[in-house]
Amino acid sequence: MMDAATLKDPRVLRHSVLDFRQMSAFVQSPLIFDRAEGVHYWDIDGKHYYDGISGIFNVGLGHGNQRVIKAITDQLNRLCFAPPLHGANSRAIELCARLAEIAPGDLNTVKLVSSGSEATEVAMKVCRQYWKQAGKPTKYKIISRYYGYHGATMGALAATGTPARRVPFEPYPTGYIHIPTVHCYRCPYEKSYPECRVFCAEYLRQVIALEGPDTVAAFIVEPIGNTGGILVPPPEYLPIIRRICDEFDVLLIYDEMITGMGRTGKMFGAETFGVTPDILCLGKGLSSGYAPLAAAIWSDRVQEAFWGPEEAHIEFGHGHTYAGNPVCAAAGLACIDEILERDLISRANELGAHLRMRLGEMAERYGIFGEVRGKGLLWGIELARDPSTREPFDEALRVGKRIGAVCQEGGLIIRHDPDWFAMAPPLTSTVEQVDAMCAILDASIAQVMEEL
Ligand SMILES: Cc1ncc(COP(=O)(O)O)c(C=O)c1O
Repeated sequence: MMDAATLKDPRVLRHSVLDFRQMSAFVQSPLIFDRAEGVHYWDIDGKHYYDGISGIFNVGLGHGNQRVIKAITDQLNRLCFAPPLHGANSRAIELCARLAEIAPGDLNTVKLVSSGSEATEVAMKVCRQYWKQAGKPTKYKIISRYYGYHGATMGALAATGTPARRVPFEPYPTGYIHIPTVHCYRCPYEKSYPECRVFCAEYLRQVIALEGPDTVAAFIVEPIGNTGGILVPPPEYLPIIRRICDEFDVLLIYDEMITGMGRTGKMFGAETFGVTPDILCLGKGLSSGYAPLAAAIWSDRVQEAFWGPEEAHIEFGHGHTYAGNPVCAAAGLACIDEILERDLISRANELGAHLRMRLGEMAERYGIFGEVRGKGLLWGIELARDPSTREPFDEALRVGKRIGAVCQEGGLIIRHDPDWFAMAPPLTSTVEQVDAMCAILDASIAQVMEEL
């Protein structure tokens, strides 16, 4: 094993590529995690950090959960791999059945994969193949939202709506269309809720009509958008979207990587907003970071188009070596048991209310929180120079990024962007731990404000 000095040596580090990071900057002061327990991380120098963002919105159960670790090690000893081209395995079958049981409505058919990007790719491929087999082969377009993030692979990126992520890899396959997102604080249409009558949702109707309903396969949406700063829609938004999709026979896909598995105060964002999609994508919290696991779960109506005689060749044409891996499935089953048996969903609501209160205190104290928004234990803070006028900070100041960096120096990991930051601690956190995180955040904001 390499010692700490070797691990931090830029000549060694330069062989690595981190997600979305400029490595020349990273090697100057690298953060190298070494171990974790509960809500705590330690880096290779022994420095302590609170995990204010549950890994990256995934480690809902906290680190070092012994039930999940035991499920994984037991499974490793029994069957670590089964070839998905040849057969199923008991853990994967159990997990699919379990997900069908807890998913809302008639979302009863589950395709297991290893990452969120794969799950959204699966969902979009299911839609295209579905319409071909349902007798409407011209329906192929996928509509998504600017600011939406659906993954890093080419199909998922084509649906992604953040320019920084998309543009370097253009061009994309045809048939991907974007509409503005829901963002009541900075409405892309410069309207105000509720007088707007949720125009941003109604706009989908226009786009489908103009594209031609016979060409549109699906609309994909995160119930709460992460990119852009935890964009919570008004209560009417998803019901309107559902109605429009039904009107034009367009399938509705939810990307619940972040909103799923108890994070928003119910098991799924679909339940938080009371609107069920045709396909629900899960990842992240499904295995709480213990194993690469994600899933797309679709309705009976969709599944019917894939169920028939062998000679019809209508099976879903998609696979991965690690799809339905038994070790990952064992992790997923243990995570679901933990969430339900420990009632971590109620806890998400209680802790979320506490975190919201602490953030409210900071909003008063510093006067730079334009909006605090979220659900359950998922909270985002949009920064504003003057919350009364919504005047933003000069972008070049990168206030959110600076707050995030000072938090990290002070021992707290949060999600941060130039004009917003987010907190989503593990659902297993205690009130005292959330308070300790907030104390670091509070001091970090004070420091950044002094420097501005
Ligand atoms: C909403 C959403 N969709 C999809 C993805 C992609 O998941 P993964 O990184 O596991 O491929 C992410 C990852 O951050 C996400 O937040």
